[in-house]
Amino acid sequence: MTGDDLRINPSILAADFVNMQAELGRIANADFVHVDVMDNHFVPNLTFGPQMVERIQATSPVPLDVHLMITDPDRWAPGYAELGAASVTFHLEAATEPVALARRLRQIGARAGVAVKPATPVEGLFDVLDEFDQILVMTVEPGFGGQSFLADQMPKLARLSQEARRRGSHVWLQVDGGIGEDTIAQAAENGADTFVAGSAVFGADDPSRAIESLRSAAGAHRH
Ligand code: DX5
Ligand code: ZN
Repeated sequence: MTGDDLRINPSILAADFVNMQAELGRIANADFVHVDVMDNHFVPNLTFGPQMVERIQATSPVPLDVHLMITDPDRWAPGYAELGAASVTFHLEAATEPVALARRLRQIGARAGVAVKPATPVEGLFDVLDEFDQILVMTVEPGFGGQSFLADQMPKLARLSQEARRRGSHVWLQVDGGIGEDTIAQAAENGADTFVAGSAVFGADDPSRAIESLRSAAGAHRH
């Protein structure tokens, strides 16, 4: 499998927020920049909203992969697509009408993503896989960077990957949380093709080199 089939999306949650422009410049070889929006309601942490994301959009050398950890995405997610985010992912647990919301995001021109927390099954998505461009299997409880990878999410990811294959789906399978040199291989082996990494990229001396090394580790374990 070639490097073209996988994506490394650094999470700016681990970046220096007051030097965002410079931080974005350090990850110009990434595929997307992962932007964690938290509302201190859906998760017990708070980051920023559309005003900041709009500035990131204007400044980033790579497209935006917005991860909304917010209540009522039915109301708020379309605004992130409208400001130009290439991909907008909302949580299944928070959405009232996930399929209608995904259609709306696509209609605006974004890739539509849906995320599941560790305790949420993915089977309910099997019949509607084609409504989404990306499914995010969380490998930590959402809310904070720097947590340990939950290997117990791998069977869920593998089931999803098998089902996507069986249906001939082109949906991207993303993992987020605790992804680094020591865990990315397992995620790739179990079917992930899109990898979010916060501390493993921004905690490295050379973030762009960390991206390339994650890319080759994932590529070696894709099948
Ligand atoms: C956690 C966020 C992640 C976080 C990952 O809720 O969704 O994107 O930044 O950070 P690391 O890679 O440090 O686990
Ligand atoms: Zn995230």
